[in-house]
Amino acid sequence: MSALVVTPKIHPSILCADHGNLRGEIQKLTDASVDYFHIDVMDGSFVPNFGCGSEIVKLVKKTTDIPMDVHLMINDPARHIEFFCELGASIITFHPDVDRQPARTLAKIKEMGMVPGITLNPGTSIETVKELLPLCGHVLAMTVNPGFGGQHFLEYTVNKIRHLGELSQKYGFSLCVDGNITVERVQQLFPMGVTNFVMGTALFQDNYLEVIKSIREVTKCTQ
Ligand code: DX5
Ligand code: ZN
Repeated sequence: MSALVVTPKIHPSILCADHGNLRGEIQKLTDASVDYFHIDVMDGSFVPNFGCGSEIVKLVKKTTDIPMDVHLMINDPARHIEFFCELGASIITFHPDVDRQPARTLAKIKEMGMVPGITLNPGTSIETVKELLPLCGHVLAMTVNPGFGGQHFLEYTVNKIRHLGELSQKYGFSLCVDGNITVERVQQLFPMGVTNFVMGTALFQDNYLEVIKSIREVTKCTQ
């Protein structure tokens, strides 16, 4: 029997790309074989910022075949599931704190053929969402408070991530982290069961190919 080899999945955060050359950025990342495009949808209400509306989602969709992971940082996310499904999302995550019936929203995302997921803010404990975890195909753990790229990693999230890593094995969801993820963080968190990594500043301020190559290298020895 051959051992199952897990390789880290890289989700560049479009929010941090050069929007003056977005098509070129998407093309370059496609050539670098990233795994997903992470789209931060912000409504200026749930988070104090606006970002990534339908035009950007459409541009990603028509420029690449790489699937889109849509992170809804919006109030009342259940209202907008069909909208993002029609735009071609593959994964949708939302913040259950601002959804009246998160279990129903997860079921709706799944019924529409997408991977359903929740996002946990740094201050949201596993205890408050534990019934939802078996319903998730993907869980996004924030390591910064949502709203902006380029913030500092919050160390206190690491214990929760370790615990989520154990639960991901039990329930079979993919575990993703989002917020100042660097090559060193990938090296630290991959052995805890984190398989998916949203990368903004650390990827876009550097040479994509070099960063992606380093991630493959630092995770090789831990497999
Ligand atoms: C923050 C967003 C992130 C962010 C990542 O609210 O959800 O996706 O753009 O950017 P970095 O890696 O710079 O924290
Ligand atoms: Zn995000």
